[in-house]
Amino acid sequence: MSAQAARGNWGSRIGFILAAAGSAVGLGNIWGFPMQVGKGGGAIFVVLYLFCVFVICFPILVAELALGRSSGKSPIEAFAVTKPNTPWWVVGALGVMAGVGILSFYSVIAGWTVAYIWFTATGAVAGTPEQVAGYFSAFVADGGKNLVLAFAVLGITAAIILGGVREGIERASKVMMPALLVLLVLLAIRGLTLPGASAGVAYYLKPEWSEVTNISVLNAALGQAFFSLSLGMGCMITYGSYLSKSTSVVGAAGWVAGLDTTVALLAGFIIFPAGFSIAGFDPAAGGPGLIFAVLPQLFATMPGGHLFGAAFFILLSLAAVTSTISLLEVPTAALVDKGWPRKKAIYVLTGVVLALAIPSVLSQGAVAGLSRMPGVEMDFLSLMAIVWNNWALPIGGLLIAIFVGWVWGADHAIAELSAGGVAFPGARLWAVLIKYVCPVAILFIIIMTARGMFGG
Ligand code: TRP
Repeated sequence: MSAQAARGNWGSRIGFILAAAGSAVGLGNIWGFPMQVGKGGGAIFVVLYLFCVFVICFPILVAELALGRSSGKSPIEAFAVTKPNTPWWVVGALGVMAGVGILSFYSVIAGWTVAYIWFTATGAVAGTPEQVAGYFSAFVADGGKNLVLAFAVLGITAAIILGGVREGIERASKVMMPALLVLLVLLAIRGLTLPGASAGVAYYLKPEWSEVTNISVLNAALGQAFFSLSLGMGCMITYGSYLSKSTSVVGAAGWVAGLDTTVALLAGFIIFPAGFSIAGFDPAAGGPGLIFAVLPQLFATMPGGHLFGAAFFILLSLAAVTSTISLLEVPTAALVDKGWPRKKAIYVLTGVVLALAIPSVLSQGAVAGLSRMPGVEMDFLSLMAIVWNNWALPIGGLLIAIFVGWVWGADHAIAELSAGGVAFPGARLWAVLIKYVCPVAILFIIIMTARGMFGG
């Protein structure tokens, strides 16, 4: 057995597409995207987001997959074998840290979705908008319950990875992803046919350019695009390392980005029409609780709403777990490449992530000092999301673009992606994007945001 085969390979191209889309599609699409649209002023955010996905992030997705497949390694080693005796491996190490950091708050939110399976199925969460919103705030303020839930999510994630990922992820993704898509379409149809839906659609699709007052909206759009596509921390380097040399990577990347974007946009078509059909709805005030306050009310208006609600939160939990798997797989693969036994790596990492999850759990009302942190005026979980999504991932992406475009070289990447006569349409355009457009655009956004924040 070759070394490559021993590390594991995807069974098929479609299996890879669904597994990578499984990583990409998650809470970021259905929980995060509508929340960011609400904070970012509606349709303006949607336009900026689409720009970031297609012009900045898609080229980086291709770059990560190329680097992963070429090196056949997890992030730290991928940089180290491609350019030995240089400090570039540090970029991989930052990615590993980002994986641990993101997982620590992601598992808390995934725990909420698991609990909401039960709450919607039993009809526990119902009543007036105030009651539904109040139910959510009371539930998340229960630190003990939420720690158990986060622990359960991490335990399931660890168990799947322990049992060998590829068979598990690939097979589960093939069933779950189509089911999620069908359910999302049905819910969007329901949302769009609600009375008063048009105000929500207008908010979602008609940009009010006069409302762009702050560069931080662009920074948030960029961070959201990186997060949603699982970019900037070497997750796609790792998934790319399990690709066979005969796979057409660029086309597969197109499918992954397309599916991810479709799911995010559909989530908006569910939440905004549903939200605006409720009197006094303020999308900007939703925060982390947005979908948990709005969706139960949508389910309450539907025949069979309990079943629909439970099915929705089951699928959202599964989508979250195909993402947590990929988040835990990156640090695990990094430690395994350092010679750790896989089992030990998984146990240690799960413990570390769980410990780091505690302040996020307690920041939703249980502990006042964490729920509204002095100085930043936000809760610890939201602060984590901003630090990792809006800063760490774009900075990681910037360094990956520079590495692939200039240090390893765009030509080497193109040769890798066209190996065996596979077509790479738009290879020249990609080279221009990865060498010039991505670094300049990311750097611009980062600098402008920093100036805005620190008043320079
Ligand atoms: N993309 C996932 C989501 O949208 C989250 C995720 C999984 C992620 N793996 C990642 C984000 C790696 C950044 C990097 O929910």
